[in-house]
Amino acid sequence: MIHINENYLKLEASYLFSDIAKRVAAHQQRQPEPAIIRLGIGDVTRALPDACIAAFHRAVDEMASDAGFRGYGPEQGYAFLREAIAVNDFQARGADIHADEIFVSDGAKCDTGNIQEIFAADARIAIPDPVYPVYLDTNVMAGRTGHYQRGRYAGVVYLDGNAANGFIPELPTEPVDLIYLCFPNNPMGATITTEQLKQWVDFAAANRAIILYDAAYEAFIRDDTVPHSIYEIEGARKVAIEFRSFSKTAGFTGTRCAYTVVPTSLTAMTASGGTHSVHALWSRRHSTKFNGVSYPVQRAAEAVYSSAGKSQVAGLVDEYMTNAGIIRNAMQDLGYRCVGGENAPYIWVATQRDSWAFFDMLLEKAGVVCTPGAGFGTCGEGYIRISAFNSRDNVTAAMARIRQALA
Ligand SMILES: Cc1ncc(COP(=O)(O)O)c(C=O)c1O
Repeated sequence: MIHINENYLKLEASYLFSDIAKRVAAHQQRQPEPAIIRLGIGDVTRALPDACIAAFHRAVDEMASDAGFRGYGPEQGYAFLREAIAVNDFQARGADIHADEIFVSDGAKCDTGNIQEIFAADARIAIPDPVYPVYLDTNVMAGRTGHYQRGRYAGVVYLDGNAANGFIPELPTEPVDLIYLCFPNNPMGATITTEQLKQWVDFAAANRAIILYDAAYEAFIRDDTVPHSIYEIEGARKVAIEFRSFSKTAGFTGTRCAYTVVPTSLTAMTASGGTHSVHALWSRRHSTKFNGVSYPVQRAAEAVYSSAGKSQVAGLVDEYMTNAGIIRNAMQDLGYRCVGGENAPYIWVATQRDSWAFFDMLLEKAGVVCTPGAGFGTCGEGYIRISAFNSRDNVTAAMARIRQALA
């Protein structure tokens, strides 16, 4: 008889977004006016950059003739896109990354979720709290954790992010094999300094661990001293995998394109002590289970690196970051401590009370939807996340309503 993967039964059902939806629907029923403003979800609201749209159209037209038609492409991605990524996102910043180390995919969600399967089932994992839930849930599914008790899974080394450590987790005090880091951070909006990131790279090297570095929000960094890539740090090629996405950078959340960097110099051991290339393993996994991103989408992504694309993307990011500044300033003026919003599109606000109570109060009194921090982990209790992804008019109106409600 077929049995299920019982690890799935350990998963704590995530009530976060369905709970939010229910509370919002009930509120709308009671009070249809004014229309609610959503600053909860992390989805972009602005159209794709013109340069991407033009490239997208051109590529679709190519597919319309037998001569220009493309079938299955290379699983790792077309060379034109991988070259553009390596040159613009890494070599231009002094990071020694080459096109053959780039794996183009349909999302950083899939990549950050799938990567764990090339590592041992008994790998010890270190995961931030609060966290983008994909890292944790995919390890639960794979059986690397025990059961869920009082907000945490047994067997996971949690990396707390809180006011005491400036929202940057401290190095683990126990041995770990896989370390998930995300900077600029979702949900807290915090960034890591070069010196702090160097400590993580050195820790990983000393412990023969691998860092899984999620830089999906790299495009929002404004401070020149903040590293954009872990490969700006000496030694990272031997200890880190990096995830990037066009979703937030260029509005590709519905178009789907991302990439993962696995340096050819990254190795890991077998239980019997043999050394293996992690690049070769991921390459094998990617080409066995994935058939490539569509040609038009890769052409659209390539256009991000054209000069028009670069300036249009910068314009989009500026729009959202101006929103972030408006949100952060408004909440600080009201007396709330905030992190984020300076090099990230999220503002993490200390609510001085239960995060769901604060969520309900903003919904009732201001008609504004945020995300309760408790949904991201135990360390998120006492915080809410406000997203800068909305129109300027909506953000300005939302903050005016919040001022009135909280003043
Ligand atoms: C930290 C982080 N990584 C990855 C993703 C997923 O990106 P993608 O749209 O490329 O799947 C998100 C999306 O919200 C995210 O917040």
